[in-house]
Amino acid sequence: MYDFTSIIPRRNTDSVKWDVKPNELPMWVADMDFKVAPEILDAMRKKVDFGIFGYEEPHDDYFDAVASWYTKEHHATPKKDWLFLSTGVVPTISSSVRRVTNVGDNVLVQAPVYNIFYNSIVNNGRHVLSSDLVYDATTHQYHIDFDDLETKLAEPLTTMMILCNPHNPIGKVWTKDELIKINQLCIKHSVTLLSDEIHGDLVFKGTDYTPMFSLPENLIQNIIVCVSPSKTFNVTALHAATVIIPNEALRNKVNRGINTDELGEPNLLAIPGTIAAYTKAGRWVHELREQIRTNYETVTSFCESNIPDVTVVPSTATYLVWIDVSKLTSDSAQLESFIRQETGLYVSAGTVYGGNGNLFLRMNIASPTSMVADGLQRLKNGVAQFKQVK
Ligand SMILES: Cc1ncc(COP(=O)(O)O)c(C=O)c1O
Repeated sequence: MYDFTSIIPRRNTDSVKWDVKPNELPMWVADMDFKVAPEILDAMRKKVDFGIFGYEEPHDDYFDAVASWYTKEHHATPKKDWLFLSTGVVPTISSSVRRVTNVGDNVLVQAPVYNIFYNSIVNNGRHVLSSDLVYDATTHQYHIDFDDLETKLAEPLTTMMILCNPHNPIGKVWTKDELIKINQLCIKHSVTLLSDEIHGDLVFKGTDYTPMFSLPENLIQNIIVCVSPSKTFNVTALHAATVIIPNEALRNKVNRGINTDELGEPNLLAIPGTIAAYTKAGRWVHELREQIRTNYETVTSFCESNIPDVTVVPSTATYLVWIDVSKLTSDSAQLESFIRQETGLYVSAGTVYGGNGNLFLRMNIASPTSMVADGLQRLKNGVAQFKQVK
């Protein structure tokens, strides 16, 4: 049994998440408050003890570790020559946008979506084109409007789509049929499909995650898949990701970009950390999933019983909970800053994710249950006070 209950003080450790006031409880940016698996720490210590840290590049043991993780966990094996290392998923997205599309092109996303996608597009002089996910306010579920998606993919200036599977912030895992449909539309309209699968290992129940590279061969010639141990194993500062591109010409093109952007060189812990994670820390991930699932159920039942003005969107993946606050406000940024000011609870305002995010808050529940309970109490108090003043 691994330890997912100890509270580890993270203030004054250079943590972005915990750079907050003494009374504040951060439940925003996507990293976890759990200590990394001892198997990974051992591999890192061994590396540090070796004491010489010259330039490095990944070899077969790295690619075998990634490929066999996908075989074991997801029943799909990427070919080793499809893979290369990069220093992160977001850097890969930005680099691919620059290499694969032209200034002024449209890059399609499905809002509400991980806000940094917008930066990767806009900061490179491309336009964001969103085919917004459609929200059913009765079931609190999202779905894709495929007619709208096709219309937007068919626009001559649309040259790339960035898919998020599982989808941050709504916690939805796209089904294999949905992936095939998206993919066929991208192929039909000559759009490169970049699939960000960084949350793929954190699926709790229901539809299982289908790696995009596992689709039939004719459907994977236009895809760029990004995976990483960073969310799964809580090693976001490791800065190690793997890019999976089955088509050789596309792979060479994106790989060229990664190299000219200087994103292909691992730091001293990236290779041993990734290998240890994928080959030795599987059991830690399985236990983690149980912990997050318990936390998710705690959040859902607490909100149902204690905060009837909010609704937790049913989700089956990621440790990010998407909370419908539309009964309270149509400006979740205002609600977020009010709650932070009054209770110290720091969650993410849904506004940054676009689409109908102005009606939602996002709460990171990858913390010991006692910390989540503290967050829920603060949320309850914050909502009660907000109702009094609004
Ligand atoms: C969907 C998604 N992609 C990418 C990232 C960040 O990836 P990286 O740290 O490898 O750049 C995050 C972090 O929250 C994320 O949620």
